[in-house]
Amino acid sequence: MLKIAIQKSGRLYEDSVKLLRECGIELNNGNKQLKTTAFNFPLEVYFLRDDDIPQYVYDGVADIGIVGENVLLEKGKDIERVYRLGFGKCRLSIAVPKSGQYDGLSDLQGRKIATSYAVLLRDFLTKNNISAEIHEISGSVEIAPGIGLADAICDIVSSGSTLFTNGLKEVEIVLESEAILAANKKLSEENKSILKKLLLRINAVKTARNNKYIMLNAPNHQLQNIFKLLPGMKSPTVVNLAEEGWSSVQSVVNKNEFWDVIEKLKKFEAEGIIVVPIEKMVM
Ligand code: PRP
Ligand code: ZN
Repeated sequence: MLKIAIQKSGRLYEDSVKLLRECGIELNNGNKQLKTTAFNFPLEVYFLRDDDIPQYVYDGVADIGIVGENVLLEKGKDIERVYRLGFGKCRLSIAVPKSGQYDGLSDLQGRKIATSYAVLLRDFLTKNNISAEIHEISGSVEIAPGIGLADAICDIVSSGSTLFTNGLKEVEIVLESEAILAANKKLSEENKSILKKLLLRINAVKTARNNKYIMLNAPNHQLQNIFKLLPGMKSPTVVNLAEEGWSSVQSVVNKNEFWDVIEKLKKFEAEGIIVVPIEKMVM
C-alpha cells in the first residue's frame, strides 16, 4: 500500500484530487475525511496542511506527496522530486502597499518584511545584498502591512486577487513554483513498484492533455505532405474513402502546434477536419 499526502484544502487540493481521478483512482472523500483508501488502486490518501507534507514524506509517515515547490524548498527536507506536475503554478513574490512608492530592491533596505517563507526570503535578500528585518508569521501574511506589522510581505501569488483585495502590489519575484510529486528516498520495493504504476498513469494523463486526436479527409496526391505534418505516435492511420482518390487520415497533434498545423493542412487540401480531446495516451 502506497501512502500519498495531498493538501487538505487550498490551491493544490482540487487539482491533486482531479489528477488521481484522471488516473482512474477512485476515492471516497465525500465528507472530507483526513484519510481515505482508494477502491481500485493500492493507495492510501492523507489530507494534510501543505506545510507539513515535506516533513511527513521525509519521516516516511507518507511515502509520497503532492506539494508546491515553494514549500519543498522552504522546508529543505531531503526528499526525492519525482515529477513536475504542471499545475499549481505560482510565484513567491515581495509585495508592498499599492499607494507607496517603490523604485527597486534598495527600497527594502532596513525595512520589515512579513512572510511564511523566511528561508527563501533570507536567501533572496542575501543574494541581493539587502538587509531587512524578516518577520515570520504562519498565515494571513497579506494583512501585515495594513495593520502596521510590516512594510512589505513575501508570499505566494497565483491569480493576484489576494494582493489586490489587500491593496498590495507585486514588486519582486523571489521564485517561480508549481506542484511537484515528491517521494521518500527509502521506499520499499513494493511501494516503488506501485509508484511506477502511478507514474505511468500520470504520464498518460499529462501526455493526453498535451495532445489532440485529429481526423480529416484529403485527396490521395497530398497524403505524403500530410503525413509529414502529422507523424502521429508511430504513423498516421489511413482509410480509403468511398469516393475514388480520397482518404481519411487519423493522427495526434500537439496542442501547442495545433493552429499552425491546421493552417498548413488547409493548404494541402485537407477538409472535414475533426479534432477531439484524448483521455489517456500511452506512448
Ligand atoms: C497562497 C497565499 C495567498 C494565496 C494567493 O496561499 O498565501 O493566500 O495563495 O493566491 P491568489 O494570488 O490567487 O489570490 P496557499 O495556497 O499557498 O495556501 P496556504 O498559505 O494557506 O498554505
Ligand atoms: Zn500552507
